[in-house]
Amino acid sequence: MTQTELPSVDTKQLHDIARGYVKTALLRTALELRLFDPLADGPQTAAELAAHTDVHPRGMRILLDALAAIGLLRADGGQYVLPDGGAELLVSTSPRFFGGAVRLGASDWEWDAQKHLIDAVRHGGTVAPTHALTPEFDYWEEFATSTSWFNNGAAQLMTEQLVPWAKDRDSVDVLDIACSHGSYGFTFAQAEPRAVITGLDWPNVLEITRRHAERRGVADRFRTLPGDMFKTPLGGPYDIVMLTNVLHHFSQEEATELLRRAATAVKPGGRIAVVGHTTDAHDTPHTNPLPYMFSVIMLVQTHSGETHSVDTYRQMLTDAGFVNPTSHSSEAAMHRLFIADRP
Ligand SMILES: C[S@@+](CC[C@H](N)C(=O)[O-])C[C@H]1O[C@@H](n2cnc3c(N)ncnc32)[C@H](O)[C@@H]1O
Repeated sequence: MTQTELPSVDTKQLHDIARGYVKTALLRTALELRLFDPLADGPQTAAELAAHTDVHPRGMRILLDALAAIGLLRADGGQYVLPDGGAELLVSTSPRFFGGAVRLGASDWEWDAQKHLIDAVRHGGTVAPTHALTPEFDYWEEFATSTSWFNNGAAQLMTEQLVPWAKDRDSVDVLDIACSHGSYGFTFAQAEPRAVITGLDWPNVLEITRRHAERRGVADRFRTLPGDMFKTPLGGPYDIVMLTNVLHHFSQEEATELLRRAATAVKPGGRIAVVGHTTDAHDTPHTNPLPYMFSVIMLVQTHSGETHSVDTYRQMLTDAGFVNPTSHSSEAAMHRLFIADRP
């Protein structure tokens, strides 16, 4: 970074950051009230929206103007209008509705964890009695329920990579470790009719996974494996093992251990598919903020997790005994995909 590119700070920015939680509360409240839904049919006044959502007119007026102040509405001569992109992202009937992601990202679980950031910074990891690695943590039920289309891009990318490879195999048995909503396995199963998916997760989460399997028409090819991914016998061996958005909960050493365990469940000549947030060698917090912000979530929710780099993912796969690791990304995928072979 050159001298002229050094970041600066001003009071407006500091006010904005200090009260960032108010923006979170505004978005969360508006979505809970389904406030944006009636605006899909056209502009409305504060009084109309208050009547529609059954709230106090004064509360609604102040809420609407604040939503306009942060760009989530357009105030137009006493009426309120959806902003560009609003019909797609803010209206609950849209296939790209972002409400699920907000329900999770703006949840009490995540916010309460951030209140103890200073403890996590002091200790280098969570000191909370319950966190992401607590067995049957109810946060993961919300995750499995609410996770929205933002996994679709990476799930589609994985399917595109694996379907041509699976074509010539005698069987297509898949283990999806820490499967949650099951999107990765189910997207693949919808494209590969011979695929049989075994989903491993905590039992309370797998009840939700099964409902997703039914909704997506693959329940007859879905098996469940409830338990702890570090201890439960994995069964198999499988043609493909999926491990998506899991390794960032752990240090490089612990994640490599989990990959070694996963490797024991992959048939010789089979494959592992791993997905995660990553940093690239040329990334900095200035050029690519998201993975660095994600590490804060891991800091407060785990003992040793953080965003790992592309090179670290390759190293972990190699150290766990896999060969030919390749990395894949696409415009639509929020996460990076790694595929490697078991010799
Ligand atoms: C971030 S989610 C990943 C879900 C999904 N694979 C994805 O890509 O979105 C982590 C999942 O790991 C599960 N999990 C965490 N620790 C576990 C453990 N020790 N054994 C089994 N599942 C675990 C959680 O219940 C949760 O569903």
